[in-house]
Amino acid sequence: MLGRTDLEASTCWDFPTQSDGHPRAGDASFNGVTPARCAGNLVRRYSRPGQLVIDPMSGSGTIGDVARALGRRAISFDLVPRRRELIRADARAWPIPNGIAALAVIDSPYSDNIAYGNDPRCLGRISCRDPRFYEEMRRVAIEAQRVLFPGGILAWIIADEYRGGVYTPAGFRLMDVLSETFEPIDTIVLVRHHDRSASPMWEHRARRFNFYLRGFKFLFILRKPVGELGG
Ligand SMILES: C[S@@+](CC[C@H](N)C(=O)[O-])C[C@H]1O[C@@H](n2cnc3c(N)ncnc32)[C@H](O)[C@@H]1O
Repeated sequence: MLGRTDLEASTCWDFPTQSDGHPRAGDASFNGVTPARCAGNLVRRYSRPGQLVIDPMSGSGTIGDVARALGRRAISFDLVPRRRELIRADARAWPIPNGIAALAVIDSPYSDNIAYGNDPRCLGRISCRDPRFYEEMRRVAIEAQRVLFPGGILAWIIADEYRGGVYTPAGFRLMDVLSETFEPIDTIVLVRHHDRSASPMWEHRARRFNFYLRGFKFLFILRKPVGELGG
């Protein structure tokens, strides 16, 4: 355990920058990029060197970059691949055989607030107020269930939404969906930094109109059951 003293020990993860600890992972300027040290903690806790890590919504590729740097095999794909080595595929149909991955890390859209591209299959076109959002995310989770080996880990990052005076607890709703087929292990609070709303103007509005700016994302960690039902 001595070599693991830089792993997060609590359920609150707060990294100063996107590239902290992994300066060449992903692209810090990509809208919605995953903190590299978050990926590093997941990869080190839930996979061993040589095992397979999947990122089906890879964006700028942070999770695959970190996994490979840590000696794992990685497959990264996205509807809109931003780099040549990323595969174009839909997260509801993974181009991967059954039961071979140790870990899947998914940093999904959490509503229709960011335009990731023009492809009508983009899940970032569906509002988290719409029940269809959770139905489509269930299809992604079913693919994770198929591709992970029994005991494999699904890690999923999502945030709630406050928009137009309406709060939508997208995190809790997604966790309900994921818990149908996975065993919850824990929930991490991932502190958000440098969002566009983190400005004096938005802070003033939040106080004046009595709402809260989003200060964190959820990171849900779940296990594919081992045994008869889990396959
Ligand atoms: C929050 S970003 C991922 C950020 C990424 N982890 C990074 O570090 O750059 C969400 C990604 O989901 C992708 N996406 C949305 N719908 C998708 C779908 N149906 N299949 C695959 N990728 C999808 C978007 O193109 C976007 O790149």
